[in-house]
Amino acid sequence: MRSKYAIIAGTGMGKIFELSEKHEVETPYGSAELYSVKGFQNLIFLPRHGIGYSLPPHKINYRANIYSLKKSGVNFAIATNAVGSLNKRLSPGSFVVPDQIIDFTRSRKSTFFEGEDGNVVFTDVTFPYSEKVRSALLVASKRLQIKVYSRGTYVCTEGPRYETAAEIRAYKLLGADIVGMTGAPEAFLAKEAGIEYASISVVTNYAAGIAKQISHGLVMDIMHNAQESVRKLIFEAINVLEESLK
Ligand code: HPA
Repeated sequence: MRSKYAIIAGTGMGKIFELSEKHEVETPYGSAELYSVKGFQNLIFLPRHGIGYSLPPHKINYRANIYSLKKSGVNFAIATNAVGSLNKRLSPGSFVVPDQIIDFTRSRKSTFFEGEDGNVVFTDVTFPYSEKVRSALLVASKRLQIKVYSRGTYVCTEGPRYETAAEIRAYKLLGADIVGMTGAPEAFLAKEAGIEYASISVVTNYAAGIAKQISHGLVMDIMHNAQESVRKLIFEAINVLEESLK
């Protein structure tokens, strides 16, 4: 299966498209499961947590996932993430296209460049997301009149637990707007692989301490309600990218 576009679907987005065949792709890091989307030849669907939601964020094989997309010829990837909000303006249900990341993960294999072959590579991630894909998402949101916040700093935590109130206060001081568990190292690996990558973050809750407690059930409900808008945004963003390539 070869395809120019990929969707990396996060929490609650497993059923966003009608899928057809499953493709098991072998990589040097293990295998990845990709799906084709019914009616769309140019699109690969990668359910980040597995199709039955069996992988917690810290157990996801991010390297196999991104490598498998590269191997399949993917140039552009649009990801989705569920996030908590540290910013009063970003209420549950809001969409954010983040432009920055702070990485607080700690147990993940986070690079393709281990230096084993004597090849030491330092990747520039000043701007971790693709401006091309970010701007396609923003143009899509204008066309569809779906409100999207055009930037935000995403702090990635290790999970799978949510954060403490003190952690959230600290992240807020560092400038984070939203918090999630899957943005890193995914965005960095995409950068290393030369895949144009951006994400739509869906705010599902105010973060710990801003909200009194976090309910995973509520997180899932909000994601479920967001599915239709996210699906439209992704398809329109792909149209925008196609137009720009003409
Ligand atoms: N923290 C981390 N990840 C999340 C949250 C949160 O509050 N909400 C949804 N994913």
